[in-house]
Amino acid sequence: MNIKQNLIGLIGETPMLQLKSVRSDWEIYLKLEYFNPAGSFKDRTARALIEAAEKSGKLKKGMTLFESSSGNTAKALAMLSSARGYRFVAIVDKHAPADKLNAIRAYGGKLHFCTDEEDKEGGHLVDVRRNLAKKLAKESGGINLDQYDNPENPLGFYNTLGKEIYKQIPDLDYLIGTVGTGSSLSGTGKFVKEHSQTKIIAIEPQGSSHFSPHGHGYFISGPGYPAGAILPKNIDVSVFDKNDFISDSQAFNTMRYFAQHKGLLFGDSSGMLLYYAMKFIKNTSLSDRVKKMVLIIGDSGESYLSHAFNDGWMIENELMDKQIIIDLSKFYL
Ligand SMILES: Cc1ncc(COP(=O)(O)O)c(C=O)c1O
Repeated sequence: MNIKQNLIGLIGETPMLQLKSVRSDWEIYLKLEYFNPAGSFKDRTARALIEAAEKSGKLKKGMTLFESSSGNTAKALAMLSSARGYRFVAIVDKHAPADKLNAIRAYGGKLHFCTDEEDKEGGHLVDVRRNLAKKLAKESGGINLDQYDNPENPLGFYNTLGKEIYKQIPDLDYLIGTVGTGSSLSGTGKFVKEHSQTKIIAIEPQGSSHFSPHGHGYFISGPGYPAGAILPKNIDVSVFDKNDFISDSQAFNTMRYFAQHKGLLFGDSSGMLLYYAMKFIKNTSLSDRVKKMVLIIGDSGESYLSHAFNDGWMIENELMDKQIIIDLSKFYL
């Protein structure tokens, strides 16, 4: 019997699923982070940030948390705030995906949309949101946990996701994840690397600015960091052995393929990773030794029902690509 005493106890210890592919010299494992209670690996971020703030004495019952995020971190903070007696305000802008905003509201979280005046305060919209979260927290006696620069965020991944993956597959060759704030892959990768010979590969959306100076707009909403914004302190590029880029169309068509043909409903960063894994393996020559890779399946596809899983939206934005579906069907068995 597996009985937990509180909601925090439900976070982590997620299952690993092995996938079949045409290449017998590779084992592909999916770390299914959508098994976390709010549906993503950002539940680990929320737990780490809230527990550290409680321990330091800064966070007390009834206080209000303010966080800049349009997505999974806000959803996870809204869930834990509801369970632990805090109020929660997510600072968002017009680019935030509707499905994620609805979930924040459902947990009782409030949304503060950046107004046009606040937009004009200067800097990139992400910077404006981050500054606003700090300002609102200060003015109201609340607290901004700051997932971007707070070292407790990567540390939380080091102590939990890193340990779990190492325990599940100690002789891992590759750990592949995406980067937004960079906290999850930096922390997880650091632990795995310190304990094994694993190589860490960081993937970002085409147009994102961690590894390229040529940023441009993109639809992917989980990972990525827009060009022109001040980069978060939590990304530790020394952990990564290699990096690459994946397009909106590659990510979204991969999500659709896995939902429609494999019963796996996951989000945009997972679509990026499964497309990348196919591309990466195809570019390696057949080897005698079996190699193992883990992909971090960060969130559930439930948050993407009104765009990547909406045919009309995909067609309107010219994102459908049949060739991607054909390539995937010839690779994943
Ligand atoms: C689904 C998903 N994947 C990946 C990321 C990137 O994670 P990190 O900010 O830890 O780099 C995010 C960030 O919100 C996300 O929501």
